[in-house]
This record gives sequence, C-alpha cells and structure tokens, in this order.
Amino acid sequence: MPSFASPHPRYQQSFLCSVQELLDAGEDQKLTGLTVFGEETHTIEELADPAAFAAFAQRLRDLALIGTPRPEGKVPETMLWWVDGSDLLGRLSIRHELTDALRECGGHIGYVVRPSVRRQGHAKAMLAAALPIARGIGIDPALLTCGAENTGSRRVIESNGGVLEDQREGELRFWVPTTV
Ligand SMILES: CC(C)(COP(=O)(O)OP(=O)(O)OC[C@H]1O[C@@H](n2cnc3c(N)ncnc32)[C@H](O)[C@@H]1OP(=O)(O)O)[C@@H](O)C(=O)NCCC(=O)NCCS
Repeated sequence: MPSFASPHPRYQQSFLCSVQELLDAGEDQKLTGLTVFGEETHTIEELADPAAFAAFAQRLRDLALIGTPRPEGKVPETMLWWVDGSDLLGRLSIRHELTDALRECGGHIGYVVRPSVRRQGHAKAMLAAALPIARGIGIDPALLTCGAENTGSRRVIESNGGVLEDQREGELRFWVPTTV
C-alpha cells in the first residue's frame, strides 16, 4: 500500500526512472522534479552520482524549513514522495503559505504521478493523504488550481471535496477543506 515518504537516497533509482518517464511523455521540465523553485535545475546525469543525489534529497527536505535560503517570493514547502516499497509513484508538495502568484495559479498543493502508473487512483489517494498534513501545517482550507483542460486533476480535486471558486486565465481555482 503506497504512502508518503520524505525525499531520501533510497529512492534514487526509482526517482531517476520516473524523471525519464516524464521526459519521454513530453511533460514540462518543471514537472519532472529536476527543478527546484523553477530555477535550480538538475540533470539525470548529475543525480546519478549517489553523493549528488543525497545532497539533492537533503535540499528537498530542507525546503520545509523557515531558515532555508530560498529565492525572494518563495515560501517554505513540504516535499512528499508517494512510494510503494522502493518504488516512487508520484510527488506532491505543500506550500505553507500563499503568495500573490500562488493565489492566482499553483495554490497550496501541487502533484504529479509518473506516467506508467496513472489512472490507478494514486493522485486521488495522494491528495487525500496530504490534506491532514496540510491541516497540521495550519492550512484550512487549501487552495488548489488546475488548468481548465486538466480533467484528471479536476476530478482529483473535486473528489477530495474541492469547491470551485473561479477561473483565472485558464486556471480553475478550488478550495479544499483539510478537515473531515
Ligand atoms: C493529473 C494527474 C496527477 C492524475 O493522476 P492519476 O493518478 O492518474 O489520477 P487518478 O488515477 O487518481 O484519477 C482521478 C480521476 O481522474 C480521472 N482521470 C485521470 N486522468 C485523466 C485524464 N487524463 N483524462 C480524464 N480523466 C482522468 C480518473 O479516471 C479518475 O476518475 P474517477 O474520479 O472517475 O475515478 C496525472 O495525470 C499527472 O501527473 N499529470 C501531470 C501533472 C499534473 O497535471 N498535475 C496536476 C497539476 S494541477
């Protein structure tokens, strides 16, 4: 049964395979997990080195800490990997607070499921598992956004109680209660 884990070197091989899958599927570079804050871009070749991957995993864990250096306008975020044994199936991040930019697009929570295991309920289960964690961070309700054409993500949000507020520049904006 899959569950969340913090980024850790034990998932190196599976993480790198999932990145390759996302690239092969033509997904946006920002969705691959190789890019931190949309600025720090890593490569599969670099992260094939165990020491480099360990440092990368540590960097991802540290993003949740207030004292971690981050670009201006970026907020602390909790990075979670959805794993089954040593297999990484998906990733989810919880932004601890909203900025003006996140309020328009992005919201509190973002996620991606690797292409080979889509349509198996992982995104729905990930979001359900993330809501109590968001609640623990002090988020209630959580803002989630998705492209108006992103039927899968919309279903994930609505099946977790999301209530549509509006659409801004092609992005649907939902509020999801984090308490049951
Ligand atoms: C969107 C995404 C996270 C869905 O992940 P998933 O694990 O396949 O989703 P689930 O299996 O939990 O599916 C949830 C529901 O959406 C439906 N669904 C999933 N993908 C779909 C698609 N491409 N088209 C139509 N419906 C879809 C499922 O059938 C399911 O429907 P149900 O409510 O009737 O059961 C995944 O496609 C993905 O990673 N996409 C790229 C990143 C992305 O768009 N992230 C969201 C940013 S807002």
